[in-house]
Parts: sequence; C-alpha cells; structure tokens
Amino acid sequence: MSTKTVHKGLTGVVVDTTGISMVNPETNSLTYRGYPVQDLAAHCRFEEVAHLLWHGELPTPAQLAEQNAVERAHRELPADLVSTLLHLPATAHPMDTLRTAVSILGANDPHEDENSPEANHAKALRLFGALPSIVALTQRRRRGLLPLPPRLDLGFAENFLAMTFGAVPEPEVVRAFEISLVLYAEHSFNASTFTSRVVTSTLSDLYSAITAAIGALKGPLHGGANEAVMAAFEEIGTADRAQEWVARALAAKRTIMGFGHRVYKNGDSRVPTMRAALRTVAELRDGQRLLDLYESLAGAVFAAKGLHPNLDYPAGPAYHLMGFDTPVFTPIFVAARITGWTAHITEQLAANSLIRPSSLYTGSAQREFIA
Ligand code: ACO
Repeated sequence: MSTKTVHKGLTGVVVDTTGISMVNPETNSLTYRGYPVQDLAAHCRFEEVAHLLWHGELPTPAQLAEQNAVERAHRELPADLVSTLLHLPATAHPMDTLRTAVSILGANDPHEDENSPEANHAKALRLFGALPSIVALTQRRRRGLLPLPPRLDLGFAENFLAMTFGAVPEPEVVRAFEISLVLYAEHSFNASTFTSRVVTSTLSDLYSAITAAIGALKGPLHGGANEAVMAAFEEIGTADRAQEWVARALAAKRTIMGFGHRVYKNGDSRVPTMRAALRTVAELRDGQRLLDLYESLAGAVFAAKGLHPNLDYPAGPAYHLMGFDTPVFTPIFVAARITGWTAHITEQLAANSLIRPSSLYTGSAQREFIA
C-alpha cells in the first residue's frame, strides 16, 4: 500500500515562490508587485504595467519611452511571417494562428536558444510588440480585409484597436480595452503560466514556453472561457430565459463558463473593475440587452449554485460590444498575458529547478513477459 497522497489538479499545492503577483482569496484581492490591480487598472497605461511586471517597479518617463520605442519597432510583422499566416486556412482558430505565429517568430530568431535575462527580455518585447499585429491581422482576415500597417504614433491599446478596426474608437472604449489588458496581464500560478514555467524549467527556449502556454490558455476551463461565455449568451438570447437555462444546464451537469475559480471561492477580485468597463462600453454601443442578460445570468447562477463570475464573464461581452469576433477574445488575453508569462519565465530561470512531479501508479501489477 502506497503512502503517497495524490493532489488531483495540484489543488492547494505550493510548488514555488513568486514575487510577481499575489492572489489573496481571503480578501478577494490581487496585487502586481504589491500594487492592487484595480488601482493599476484605474491609473496606469498597459505599457507601464508591463514594465512593472518585468522589472518590479513602475517606469520613469525615460524608461517608458525606451520600452515604447522597442515595442513599437516590433509592431511591423516580418514579411515571411505574414505570408505564412495568410497561407493558413481562414477558418483556423485564431489561437492556433497565434500559436503558429509565435513558433515561427522563434524559428526566425537567431538568439532563440539564448536564455540570459537580457536575451529573454528582448524576446518578451518582441512578442509584446508583435502579438497585437497578429491578432489584428487574424480578426481582419476573418472579415475578408487586408492587414493594416501599425500606427507608431499611438500607444499600445489605441494601436491594437486601430490596426483591428481601421480607426481609434471612442476614448472610453480604448480605456475599457486597456483596463481589460491590465486585468488579464498576470495571475500567479494559473494553468498557462505554470505551463510556461514547466517548459522553461527544462531549459528550453522562451518561444517554446509561450507556444505551450498559448495551448494551455486556449482551453475553456482557462482563457477559452471568455469565448464560451459569449456562446452561452447567444444560446440564452434574452434575460428572461436565463433562470430556466441555468436550471437545464445544471440538471445536464454542464459547466457554466465564466463562473467559478480554483483560487477565489467568494468572487474574483478583477470582476468589479471589468464589470464597470463593460457598462461603459454597453452605454456607448447599444448594449443594454446584453447587460440585462449579464446580470440575469449572474443572478441565476449564484442562486442555483452559489458560484461567482470570474474575469472572463464580463470580458467576453465587453469584447463583443467593442466589435471583436468571439474566436478573437482569447487571443486578446494572450496579448495581455504575454507580460505575466515572460516575467515568470525570467523568475523561473533565476532560481531554476526542473519541474517534475511524481504519480501514484494504479496500473497492472508487475507480470511475467512471455515472448
Ligand atoms: N459550472 C458549474 N459547476 C461548477 C462550475 C461551473 N462553472 N465551477 C465549479 N462548479 C462546481 C463543481 O462541479 C463542483 O461541484 P460539486 O461540488 O457538486 O461537484 C463545485 O462547483 C466546486 O468546484 P471546484 O471543484 O471547487 O472547482 P475547481 O477549482 O475544480 O474548478 C474551474 C475551477 C475549472 C475554473 C471551474 O470553476 C470551471 O470549470 N469554471 C468554468 C470555466 C471558467 O470559467 N474558467 C475560467 C477560469 S478564470 C480564467 O482563466 C481567467
């Protein structure tokens, strides 16, 4: 009889230390490098938060200008990357396009296998600059539109939206989008970040770690939930049908996407900020029907199961009202989380130990092999 204890899903297992962010389920709070995330969302540009995650401090104006110059230089995608992406089927899931794009960028980087902090920070900035251009290209291609060149005069969020939609939207919409990027940027040892740390722990390269993290994020139990939320809204249709839909979904043992969380059991600290951002966009973009459905479904799920929404619940409808197609929601999450992932890769390498857990064997007992 084995004395091993199985920690299914690694629930509650503390596998390492981190100085990047802290999730406190007792107080429903999240801090990046010590700062409450709602304060960062209210007062900072996304580029400043990226600097904070990478370097541990908010940037001085000179540091921000230097970082912006490098990020903007990477917005123009290499021609070979664009031509390969345009050869993928137009029906490919945008997360697959993104995963393939990161792989190509790695293969084209002569410094791919250099794992110094400097080399990896240069790669992080390269992906930080390129990912919005890839997401915008993918969104435009879905609508039969050609990619647009980057706008080097614009900040990260404005350029992302301008490259996608052809113009910078209302300042309130840009702000709501930027808030979503800040909230999505980092969340300690979630599944995709842990995946990036596992790959890094073998001393593989950053592009491999990010490719794997994108694969982990795609699943609907993780980042893919923001897309699945929209599918549920479409299935339900109107607010008055939410209660009956929840009863049927739970009776059929369906998971209701956008609700529940492995760490937060009394509410996700990021939801109130994103819900307010959703309200702002809904007021500008004729979103009252969606907002009513949002409130009605949240109430019905809480009444039936005591589950609170997670960040994906308000983010999905907000991206819909901003004009993104549903399959592009999780790629936006990638463009934000690249900051957290790459900060974790650097942290992992600074005190590396191969991540290799054990298992409890439950297969056949040892038996004689007969040739
Ligand atoms: N819908 C229906 N039931 C749920 C849900 C849900 N969304 N979430 C949890 N439950 C149920 C579980 O089945 C379980 O029920 P039981 O006790 O009757 O068996 C109970 O609530 C407790 O759940 P846990 O086991 O504590 O949840 P766990 O930590 O394993 O799962 C997870 C967390 C995977 C996020 C889960 O809540 C879920 O599947 N949610 C939907 C997917 C989702 O929204 N993911 C996004 C996460 S946040 C992010 O990535 C930004």
